[in-house]
Amino acid sequence: MPTARMTIDPHFSVGPIDRNLFGGFVEHLGRHVYDGIYEPGHESADAEGFRQDVIELVRELGVSTIRYPGGNFVSGFKWEDSVGPREQRPRRLDLAWHSTETNEIGMHEFSSWLEKVDSELMLAVNLGTRGTSEALDLLEYTNLPGGTFLSQKRIDNGRKDPFAVKIWCLGNEMDGPWQLGHRSADDYGKLASQTAKAMRQLDPSIRLVACGSSSAHMPTFGEWERVVLSHTYDDVDYISCHAYYQEHGGDAASFLASAVDMDGFIEKVVATADHVGAVRRSDKKINISFDEWNVWYQTRFENVDKIEGLDNFPVAPRLLEDIYSVIDAVVFGNLMISLLKHADRVTSASLAQLVNVIGPIMTEPGGPAWRQTTFFPFSITSRLARGASLELKLDAPSHATERYGEVPLVDAVATHDAEAGEAAVFLVNRSLSDAVDVTIDVNGLGDIAIRETHTIADDDLYAANTLEDPERVAPKANETASLDDGVLTITLPPASWTAVGLG
Ligand code: AHR
Repeated sequence: MPTARMTIDPHFSVGPIDRNLFGGFVEHLGRHVYDGIYEPGHESADAEGFRQDVIELVRELGVSTIRYPGGNFVSGFKWEDSVGPREQRPRRLDLAWHSTETNEIGMHEFSSWLEKVDSELMLAVNLGTRGTSEALDLLEYTNLPGGTFLSQKRIDNGRKDPFAVKIWCLGNEMDGPWQLGHRSADDYGKLASQTAKAMRQLDPSIRLVACGSSSAHMPTFGEWERVVLSHTYDDVDYISCHAYYQEHGGDAASFLASAVDMDGFIEKVVATADHVGAVRRSDKKINISFDEWNVWYQTRFENVDKIEGLDNFPVAPRLLEDIYSVIDAVVFGNLMISLLKHADRVTSASLAQLVNVIGPIMTEPGGPAWRQTTFFPFSITSRLARGASLELKLDAPSHATERYGEVPLVDAVATHDAEAGEAAVFLVNRSLSDAVDVTIDVNGLGDIAIRETHTIADDDLYAANTLEDPERVAPKANETASLDDGVLTITLPPASWTAVGLG
C-alpha cells in the first residue's frame, strides 16, 4: 500500500484563515432564489415566504459572506427595480440566462434572509450595461445612514439602518465575451479604477474586488490581471479568481487532480499582482477573492439547459442543476484544501452557488430539501478550519495524469486554533485504485487527541443524493485513525476526502 508522511507544527504557519474564505454566492439564476430559497406556498415557508428547511441547511453549511445578486445576471441588473413596493416592481428580461426576473425578491428581502441564515452581504455592481453613477447610487442607498434622496428612499422602503455592505465586486467576469458589456482589460481597468475611487469617496471603509479572469484558461489570462491591476492597484483590495472543474471524457484521474490546477491558478495570479506592485514600488499587497469556485458540468449546460427564443423567457427555469456524486465531493474537498493552503493571499472566497443552481443544497417545489454530496466537505471544513493554516511538509508518492502530468497522490492541509487548543487536518487520496497509509507527526501540537473523523468514499464513485434517495451518500467516521506517542496514523480509501478534528 502506498504511504505518505507529514508533520503538523504550528511553526509552519501559512497565515491566519479569514472567515470570508467560507463565503457563498446567490445569483438570480434558475431556481436559486425563486423555488429555491423563496417558495411562499411551501409548507415550511415563513411569513416572508422563505423556506425554513433551506434556512436550516444553509446555517448548517456555515457560509460567512454571500455574494449577490450575480454573476452574469448582475451585468444587466437595475438595482432600483428590486426595491420599493413589490406590486410596482417591473418584470425584466434577464439576458444572461434568457429568463424573466420578477423582482419579487430584492435587496430588502434578501437582506432579511441573510439575517436568518446568519451570513453577511457581499454586493456586486453592474459594470456591464451601467457604470460609476449607478454604482454610487446603490452605495448611497445601502450604506449612507440618511439625509439624502436615496438613503431616505431606503428608510421609506422600510429599512432605517444602512445595510452597511463591506465588500463590493466591481462587475463580474468582464473578460468574458458572453458578458453583457464585455470590455478589454484596458477599458475595464479604467472604468473599475474610476468607479472604485468614486465609491471610496462616498464610503472609504468599503473593500473592493476588481474582476480577474473568469478562468485560468481564458486566452487573456495573466495579461488581463496585469493590465487591470496596473489601472486599479491603489484603488482595490482584491483581484477575483473564478474556476469550475468537471470530469472530461471519463478521465477520473485527471478530475481528481483538479486542485493542482487551482493551486497553479492562485500562484500565477499572486505572482502577477506582486509583479504590478513591484513595478509600482508599492508596499501594498493585493489579495485574492476566489469568488466563484465549484465543480460544474458546464458541457451539460451548453448541450442541455440552454434556453432560446424571443417568446421564451421563463421565470425560474431549471438551470445548472448538477447532481453531485462521491467523486465530485472528493474534488470539491480538495478545492477547499487548495484555498486553505493559500490562506495568506486568498482572503475571501465564494462557493458558487448555494441552492439548486450548482448547489450543495437541492429543493423540490412543494417537496423536500436535501444535502448534495458537496455539502459535507464544505460544512465540515467551515466548522473545523479555524485559526491559522499550516504547511505540512508533505511527502507522498505521485502518479501520472493526462491533464496535469505527475501529481502527488495525497494532498492535505492542517489548521490550528491556538486559542481553542484545537487543530484539524484535511486530506484527499487521488488514487482510483489504492488506499494510502498516512503517518502524521503531531508532536508540535502538544497534548492532543482525535476528536472526530469524517471520510467520504464509496465503492460507487458516482453515487449521489437525489430526491428519491436523499441520504445515499454521507461521510462516515474513519475507524483506522489512531494517535499514539505524537504520531497520528490513518488509512485513506481510494478516491476519498477525509477530515480529522483534534483537540
Ligand atoms: O455561477 C454561474 C456563472 O458562472 C456565473 O453567473 C458567472 O459569473 C460564471 O460564468
